[in-house]
Amino acid sequence: MSRQVAPVPIQRVIAAHLQLTILNGPLDQAKFRENGREYYERWVHTYPYPCDAVRPWIPSQHETIIDKMQDELERLDSMHCAWYIVALDNRLHLATLRPGPLRILDIGYGTGIWAVEMKKRYPDSKIIALDIGNDHPTVDVDGRPVDYGVDFLPGVDFMQDVLDLEEGSFDFIHAGMLHSSVEALETGKTLSAGLLVSGQAEFVELDWTPRCDHASSPGSSEVSQWWRAMQIASTSLGKPLDYPADIEAIIQRAGCTVVNHRVINVHTAEDIIDLDSEDPQNWITRWYRYFMFVPTFKTVKGMSMVLLTRQLGWSPEDVAALAVRVNYQLNHTLSPYYHDL
Ligand SMILES: C[S@@+](CC[C@H](N)C(=O)[O-])C[C@H]1O[C@@H](n2cnc3c(N)ncnc32)[C@H](O)[C@@H]1O
Repeated sequence: MSRQVAPVPIQRVIAAHLQLTILNGPLDQAKFRENGREYYERWVHTYPYPCDAVRPWIPSQHETIIDKMQDELERLDSMHCAWYIVALDNRLHLATLRPGPLRILDIGYGTGIWAVEMKKRYPDSKIIALDIGNDHPTVDVDGRPVDYGVDFLPGVDFMQDVLDLEEGSFDFIHAGMLHSSVEALETGKTLSAGLLVSGQAEFVELDWTPRCDHASSPGSSEVSQWWRAMQIASTSLGKPLDYPADIEAIIQRAGCTVVNHRVINVHTAEDIIDLDSEDPQNWITRWYRYFMFVPTFKTVKGMSMVLLTRQLGWSPEDVAALAVRVNYQLNHTLSPYYHDL
């Protein structure tokens, strides 16, 4: 998509971010622990999903190592590989960017992997990345401080903090896996505030709706029940997980023109006729299955716990039990479900 309004300087945008970051201070990154996972204290209503990194907890007598380990950051990096390396064929974006140094904004940077990779590919460009969290890389594998050349702005909520922005000068705005980010970006006015007149924005989102083309699609399946509960819970929180059906209208209301809307099917099971197939579709599925079903990632349970316990009053045990059954169905060799990316 591209924007159709007048360009303006970015300095005020950055100043606003920096000021907010300083004012908020390190306490805003405080995490709390609930039902075995960690969440950002200040932002659990904005982002009701885990934000823990692996740590060497010693399991108690009744726990296994698997119970104690969850690495949300590695899970996010695996998703990055699934989408950008495999599904998008080693492209970090589909938009054609103009040559020359660019100003690029990554909204909701997560581990920072997209922003760091972009800096490698566009070394002369200014890459700014913001997130409510602060999980961007600050040290290398040997623990030495490292500077990837990206301006990371932690502790920034694009829904609120960026609301003050009236104008901007980014050539490219990217948002990946923010869950309903497009709708939220429109609400937050980040889109029309941030882009240059010739600028473009790109969203990479997995629509978590479990789709099924088979006539046998069991409306009463555990997967359907889970998704229905997630829809109700996330909507009641004001953060619907549903991918908006009128996505293009939303983008146009934000003052942009839709240039390209590409949908890639992400199947939950591989093509069992040709399991060894190197078909890209199979590769996408392999990566999907990795970040979904590696036991330490606890993806379904992690996605569901806060939403279903806090919004619908479920017990943690019921959420955990449903997650096991959902995993069983989605992880089945013959699972008929797919998602749209
Ligand atoms: C699922 S992660 C995806 C991270 C990264 N974009 C990726 O694709 O790997 C979503 C990220 O968005 C951030 N986020 C969610 N809502 C936000 C908001 N309102 N403002 C800033 N960051 C937000 C979360 O902290 C989290 O790091």
